[in-house]
Amino acid sequence: MAKAKTAFVCNECGSDYAKWQGQCQACKAWNSLSEIRLTSSKTPARVSASQDPRYQGYAGAITGIQSLSDVDLTDVPRFSSGASEFDRVLGGGLVPGGVVLIGGHPGAGKSTLLLQTMCWLAQQQSALYVTGEESLQQVAMRAQRLGLPMDNLKMLSETNVEAILNTAQQLKPKVMVIDSIQVMHLDGVESAPGSVSQVRESAAVLTRFAKQTQTVVLLVGHVTKDGSLAGPKVLEHMVDCSVLLEGSEDSRFRTLRGMKNRFGAVNELGVFAMLENGLKEVKNPSSIFLNRSNHPTAGSLVVVIWEGTRPLLVELQALVDDSPLGNPRRVTVGFDHNRLAMLLAVLHKHGGLLTSDQDVYLNVVGGVKVSETSADLAAISAVVSSFRDRVLPHDLVVMGEVGLSGEIRPVASGQERISEAAKHGFTRAVVPKANCPKKPIKGMTVIGVERLSEALDAIFEN
Ligand code: TYD
Ligand code: MG
Repeated sequence: MAKAKTAFVCNECGSDYAKWQGQCQACKAWNSLSEIRLTSSKTPARVSASQDPRYQGYAGAITGIQSLSDVDLTDVPRFSSGASEFDRVLGGGLVPGGVVLIGGHPGAGKSTLLLQTMCWLAQQQSALYVTGEESLQQVAMRAQRLGLPMDNLKMLSETNVEAILNTAQQLKPKVMVIDSIQVMHLDGVESAPGSVSQVRESAAVLTRFAKQTQTVVLLVGHVTKDGSLAGPKVLEHMVDCSVLLEGSEDSRFRTLRGMKNRFGAVNELGVFAMLENGLKEVKNPSSIFLNRSNHPTAGSLVVVIWEGTRPLLVELQALVDDSPLGNPRRVTVGFDHNRLAMLLAVLHKHGGLLTSDQDVYLNVVGGVKVSETSADLAAISAVVSSFRDRVLPHDLVVMGEVGLSGEIRPVASGQERISEAAKHGFTRAVVPKANCPKKPIKGMTVIGVERLSEALDAIFEN
């Protein structure tokens, strides 16, 4: 019998090696390699009938090839998961044969989200919920407490993938949930559940099943402290969509964010609130992170950012203070660190404010991450406000990208952002000149600016 082939895979990043070694060369993690057994694949018999010597050994009839334009597109109807925020993140709904990985910290609400979704979905489609972590009683108690329709959802408490697929083959569900992939195991793989080889092989088998039977498979996966998916990164390569359910512990809001999507855009954000009776969709989340005190303070300013297809109002806070250090601190939470350093340089050169002897802290309130450049002008203004100890008006929003030569550049969807701010009671907006709306927006005074100095004058005029 031929010797079984093995490889060594890093638990942290998924890179593989032929030999064991103490440190992973790719991610530098120590003692993270574990052995996996590769399933032996027979090498195809070679037929040397080709005339062209370059293709010796590759002859044979051409099968399975068709022109891209001939591929049948009619049979990919999406269907709704029943939760519109979930659909939005998936790019419009579930796709038959699609494999979706739902990641999140323990306690984020993955099981709750899927249980709710499946109970409602089961009213129209056949659905199977496989729980490997909780007992059937626990799940049923939760469903009852949340007041979900419980009669149509099929439940299975099982961790053996072969057994699950046997059941699924008979039941033929349209949607199947695996909660969670980390507790699943295959008979043929000799390592503990949760190890790289088990997770990888189990996911591969489930993915193949999804593609062959056109079943939607939703995999639950736990993430490590630093936010990466626990165990093999390879999971992310295998699945069609990967979404992350996040939320800080002290906040009841949970955001569902697409990380990878083969069927749609990834910049969509779904927002839920975790209440006593389960996760509720937040249909109009633009101001949920805006919870300002009634006493305006220096260094605080609101900016409208764009998340996927909708605006979100967030508060920026800056604190600028004399630094006792030779190399003053620049600390950011939710904002790019290098971008702040760059903006401070622009502020010095074009705004005439030197911060090289000051510690600068910049925080985005509510645990939101701002990756857009539209918050540049607001960040600079918050810094200036804190430095000069000048309180900015409560009804002011500021947006605009700041270029290295001190110019204020337009932002995408400027008009919609201004309208959204107006809806939430803001009455003054300082925006890039190119974003000035053609028609006046009711209740909103818009000031268009082109240069940083001009913008600071407009913001700190009174
Ligand atoms: P759960 O779905 O079990 O998390 P995961 O599967 O991601 O580990 O959610 C658990 C948390 O949600 C739990 O700690 C309590 C909270 N929760 C509520 O606040 N309200 C509810 O109605 C439910 C069901 C859970
Ligand atoms: Mg769970």
